[in-house]
Formats: sequence, structure tokens, C-alpha cells
Amino acid sequence: MKVVLASKNQHKLVEMRDILSAQGVEVVLESDAGVDVEVEETGATFEENSLLKARAVMEAAGLPAIADDSGLSVDALNGAPGVYSARYGGEGLDDAGRYRLLLENMRGQLDRRCRFVSVITLCMPNGDVISARGECPGALAYAPQGENGFGYDPVFFVPEKKKTFAQLTPEEKNAISHRGKALEAFQEKLAAYLAEKG
Ligand code: IMP
Repeated sequence: MKVVLASKNQHKLVEMRDILSAQGVEVVLESDAGVDVEVEETGATFEENSLLKARAVMEAAGLPAIADDSGLSVDALNGAPGVYSARYGGEGLDDAGRYRLLLENMRGQLDRRCRFVSVITLCMPNGDVISARGECPGALAYAPQGENGFGYDPVFFVPEKKKTFAQLTPEEKNAISHRGKALEAFQEKLAAYLAEKG
């Protein structure tokens, strides 16, 4: 089955492909399907935004479309940046600017608990929807470490590994990440759906 990824994020494409290719699912970019959809992420939850993105691309491409809406939720900040993770601090910031702002806003805070959340949603042209959520708990580091990954990876510390996400290999990250877990749950739901539909 060919599905269009409702995202222009190359890192997500690689992670999705790695995990879903095992299921015989071919993930292609919007540009490969001849569409370029800008979706306003107006939802209050990862579930809502994930559905908004997948549905818009499915309608534009006429093909099944898959979206991931994800972000980092920090307990001491009542879940922020949450669904605003990609826009934290406004348009002018890059990934490093956003995590530096987060570290600044957490200065002096001893409760460093946080979690990455990912919700994967697949919209089929017949209106069927399959959705799954994954979470990865961790602790906000005091300073960035590591070069791998993207986004908030350098400041997301995984106590069991004694490393940040940015210090893990892609395989190590996929095995424990929010997106890895969401995709694993998603795979099971998709397999059951495909078996039922024949
Ligand atoms: P989205 O593309 O609207 O889902 O934005 C998700 C944002 O959350 C990204 O731009 C990153 O800032 C952050 N994020 C989500 N997943 C990860 C991850 O695996 N590592 C680091 N940052 C992430």
C-alpha cells in the first residue's frame, strides 16, 4: 500500500519509512504525490492536529495519507510547549533557538519531568481513520548534548540510557521513541484493519 506522508519533515519521513516498510507500506512525500498542502494546525490536541493534517492531504492527493503530530510536553510548564512545539517562541527561532528558550524558561526548576508524544493518523479515501498514540517519558537536560536527530533531541535526556535523544543512534531512538511506540501500536491496528478488509 502506498501512503502519502502529510509532512515536509525529512527526518519524519526517514523514521516512518524505517518502521513501516516492514509492513509493506510504501511512504512517499507530498511532492511525490503531486500535492503541496499547508494545513493550519488549529487543534488543541495532538489527536486533532494529526487528523487535520492527514485528512487534508488525503483529500488533495486522493490517496491514503498518514500524519504524525508530535511534540514535547514539560510537566512543570503544564504541558508546554505541547502542540506548539514546532512554533515555540514564534516564527523567528530555529530548533536550537527553541530548545534554548525552553531551557531558559525552565531555569531554576528542579522538576525536569517531560515526555515526547506522537499521534499517528492514517486517513483512507473511503473515510476510514486509524490512529495511535505513543509517549516517551524523560527529563529535560540542563544543557544540550549530542548531534543526532532534530528538534528538542539534544535536551531530551533518557535516564535509562544516560544519554539524550541526540546522543542515540537512529535505531536506538526508534526503539524507545514516542514515534516508534506510536508506529508500533499503529502497525498492529493497520494489520487488523487490512486483514478485516481483505
Ligand atoms: P509537528 O511537525 O507539528 O508534529 O511538530 C512537532 C515538533 O515537535 C517538531 O518540530 C519538534 O520541535 C518537536 N518534536 C517532535 N518529535 C520530536 C523528536 O523526535 N525529537 C525532537 N523534537 C521532536
